[in-house]
Amino acid sequence: MPIPTPFTDAYDKAFLLDTMMGPNAMRIAEEMASFLPLRQGLRVLDLGCGMGISSILLAQKFGVQVFAADLWIAPTDNSRRFQALGLEEQIVPLAVDATKGLPFAHGYFDVLFSVDAYQYFGTNQTMLPGLLEFVKPGGHVAVAVPGLSRELPGGEVPPELRPFWVPQLDDEFRTLAWWRALWEQADGLRLGPCREMDCLRQAWADWLESPNPHARQDVPMMQAEGGKYFSLVQLCGQRV
Ligand SMILES: C[S@@+](CC[C@H](N)C(=O)[O-])C[C@H]1O[C@@H](n2cnc3c(N)ncnc32)[C@H](O)[C@@H]1O
Repeated sequence: MPIPTPFTDAYDKAFLLDTMMGPNAMRIAEEMASFLPLRQGLRVLDLGCGMGISSILLAQKFGVQVFAADLWIAPTDNSRRFQALGLEEQIVPLAVDATKGLPFAHGYFDVLFSVDAYQYFGTNQTMLPGLLEFVKPGGHVAVAVPGLSRELPGGEVPPELRPFWVPQLDDEFRTLAWWRALWEQADGLRLGPCREMDCLRQAWADWLESPNPHARQDVPMMQAEGGKYFSLVQLCGQRV
């Protein structure tokens, strides 16, 4: 039974189409948030927030305080967006490179949240233990990444995907089993609901409607993929 995402379905679609940077991050955030005990007053780090639509969902739907941290999108851009929505007191935009360490106190966050970004910096054994330092004991980590629904046949990129495959996808696109095995090795984490997300197809369909040139390029890729290979992997855990 698919997990409903009513907040996203009712949201200003033109705004979302302008601010998506990949499969609809608000929809993904809403489904993943349904696995977390979010409530007003909690402090959430949204790592790799892009243009901030997952941060907006967290702030508006759950009333949490969000630190919206990103590498490519300037905090000034995000600040304008959050101000226009009256969210400037609730969402703090900032520039962060997760590979260079985080500018926060240890144990500062109730939740570390990330949508469609962790694959760029987290496919190694050191990132998760490092990030857990910034989460309170008992706090949660929730990450959603695009990935593979199964290992590629023979370990080879299928012919229909080759025109779209760039070498870094070898590292970034992993299966749920691969990610789970990586997270099982992390000291200080109790693994929670790790699963393929229900919103996989709809989140991609939303993105392919976007005027963003990257979305236009992704249309033939998704036609070639044909629902056979891609997944949306959710990884959750709690700091012990
Ligand atoms: C595909 S975009 C997705 C953005 C947003 N989460 C969304 O889904 O709309 C990937 C994001 O990951 C962020 N990112 C990549 N490497 C990062 C790093 N080392 N530290 C922080 N953010 C990073 C980029 O800045 C970019 O905004």
